[in-house]
Amino acid sequence: MFMRGRPITMFIPSDVENYDDVRTELPPERLKLEWVYGYRGRDCRANVYLLPTGEIVYFIASVVVLFNYEERTQRHYLGHTDCVKCLAVHPDKIRIATGQIAGVDKDGRPLQPHVRVWDSVSLSTLQIIGLGTFERGVGSLAFSKADSGIHLSVIDDSNEHMLTVWDWQKKSKIAEIKTTNEVVLAVEFHPTDANTIVTCGKSHIFFWTWSGSSLARKQGIFGPGEIFVGFYSQKLCASGSPSVLLTHPIPTGAFQITRQIKAHDGSVFTLCQMRNGTLLTGGGKDHKIILWDHDLNPERDIEVPDQYGTIRAVAEGKGEQFLVGTSRNFILRGTFNDGFQVEVQGHTDELWGLAAHPFKDLFLTCAQDRQVCLWNSVYHTLEWTRLLDVRLLQTHICIHIMFSFSFFIVKSFNLRLQGHSSYITHLDWSPDNKFIMSNSGDYEILYWDIPNGCKLIRNRSECKDIDWATYTCVLGFHVFGVWPEGSDGTDINALVRSHNRKVIALADDFCKVHLFQYPCSRPKVCHITLLSYFKEYLYFYILEDDVY
Ligand SMILES: *[C@@H]1O[C@H](CO)[C@@H](O)[C@H](O)[C@H]1NC(C)=O
Ligand SMILES: *[C@@H]1O[C@H](CO)[C@@H](O)[C@H](O)[C@H]1NC(C)=O
Repeated sequence: MFMRGRPITMFIPSDVENYDDVRTELPPERLKLEWVYGYRGRDCRANVYLLPTGEIVYFIASVVVLFNYEERTQRHYLGHTDCVKCLAVHPDKIRIATGQIAGVDKDGRPLQPHVRVWDSVSLSTLQIIGLGTFERGVGSLAFSKADSGIHLSVIDDSNEHMLTVWDWQKKSKIAEIKTTNEVVLAVEFHPTDANTIVTCGKSHIFFWTWSGSSLARKQGIFGPGEIFVGFYSQKLCASGSPSVLLTHPIPTGAFQITRQIKAHDGSVFTLCQMRNGTLLTGGGKDHKIILWDHDLNPERDIEVPDQYGTIRAVAEGKGEQFLVGTSRNFILRGTFNDGFQVEVQGHTDELWGLAAHPFKDLFLTCAQDRQVCLWNSVYHTLEWTRLLDVRLLQTHICIHIMFSFSFFIVKSFNLRLQGHSSYITHLDWSPDNKFIMSNSGDYEILYWDIPNGCKLIRNRSECKDIDWATYTCVLGFHVFGVWPEGSDGTDINALVRSHNRKVIALADDFCKVHLFQYPCSRPKVCHITLLSYFKEYLYFYILEDDVY
């Protein structure tokens, strides 16, 4: 095999008597998304809701998750083709609108940002709007309220942050206008006045009078910083830093500040009106959730512990409960009396490595957030997490290596493999822990004799019949057929052999997962492209037919 003009020598194992008999057909297996770990709270807000079905709806990567925390089951809306950034629930609490960013398909063709409106009971797509209209992505969206959700307003992620108003069932764009070059955080329809739309964000709040295809702007006067709005019993609550300010709509359509109330230290991130007419606000800096009575006197408050990050979303839960989404990607369920319980958690930064336990239903992950997490893949729970010492993290490769052998020889953390001329990218152990096979950044395949001081084995032909407990190396006789022709060596990020040794799952650099037959020892063999993945997130796939 040649990579960037360099020959890579691989020795044919003795049990391959006739190389021409090597299988090349498609694997019969398919993949089905079983569970999604994590939630996107870091750079999104107002994106957690409880549905009448008892499920919490939220998104991560391109998947919208419907999670029933009592039964511990998930359903997934999989219509999106790239990362979802915002979500709005229709006044009927059944239909949901989600907006995504622009992407590229597996052949490098652009995928346009758009909004999908779908049914949260059947998971069927009802409408796709904005293809060709939105630029870069969809930043925020809202259903109308006064007319029972016929309209949808959307702010895109273009420099001008275009506001568009849609009759979404007819798929028709009714009005369109540039808002501002500043960051826009939210768009809201007035709850009773169908012709008023509010947008807000960094240093601005705009009131839009919408009639037919025209949108006329009035600017609110507010302090600097981020401004956030929500409606509360027909009043508009707008918050800057550090207060909540209240305004009343008056008949001329103008807005006037009627009351100013000190609420949080730092700006309010989210507002949520409760069934009984009270209001919940979630703060930025002070990590507090405050319950306000009907006259907007603070009634109760609770602090979200520091470890969860700042508050990104607050929603009403069952009974006295409320749900909180946080910047460290947690979803918490809590009450003022009993505090919080973690319902969803994931890594808070880019994911770097994953290692499945060779025979237990456990897997390890590590990420740029310096956390190593052990997950139970039956109960979908976090078993433990450890914050790693920074000194171990000079390169993510360290973590990857630690992973691979932490299950096998815990006492040998200071094992050193000296001999590669570049960094080590992948490694595997023999079942007796006597040998390691490793790949490097400059496409070497090396073998190591562990009991004899981790010695490099000079004669690689001696190693051609060693059995490997796992197969994650991307270069080797058993897997070389997965490489596309003319590859520069960076196309394949990871691969893993199934436990029954029949299938290879492969993650490429174009965010796709493929399945190949194992062994895959011929060039240009057939494969199936199954699913997209996104590098920052953790997905867990299960092979159907119990192959896994
Ligand atoms: C309203 O609901 C919240 C949350 O369920 C609860 O904490 C509060 O006591 C209720 N207030 C009234 C006045 O019913
Ligand atoms: C390397 O190993 C192979 C098979 O084990 C053997 O036939 C060959 O002679 C060895 N080469 C050298 C240079 O020792």
